[in-house]
Amino acid sequence: MLIVYDSYTGLGKKFAESLGYPVQSVEVSVNEPCILVTRNIGLGKITDTTSQFLDQYQEFVKGVVVNGSKKFGPKRIL
Ligand SMILES: Cc1cc2nc3c(=O)[nH]c(=O)nc-3n(C[C@H](O)[C@H](O)[C@H](O)COP(=O)(O)O)c2cc1C
Repeated sequence: MLIVYDSYTGLGKKFAESLGYPVQSVEVSVNEPCILVTRNIGLGKITDTTSQFLDQYQEFVKGVVVNGSKKFGPKRIL
């Protein structure tokens, strides 16, 4: 299964590469089933590049993983 990543600081890319499948950037075209690894920005929103990828390739996307950081959003005591 192809893994497609949308990664800015590299954490998503590193995670995608750790899965042991072929990987490529969200900016490269796709013509086979894939899993998308993407990221949070702006308090829970997805990036424009992820939005465009999903619009263009939704038929191929079989699952989505979204990462984020606890540094964003309201403070909670866990
Ligand atoms: C400009 C900016 C906005 C972000 N906004 C959020 C957010 O709203 N919620 C969240 O959980 N993480 C947010 N993050 C954290 C990233 O989602 C997190 O660091 C993620 O692991 C980055 O993935 P990457 O290393 O693959 O780019 C933001 C990061 C940046 C740089």
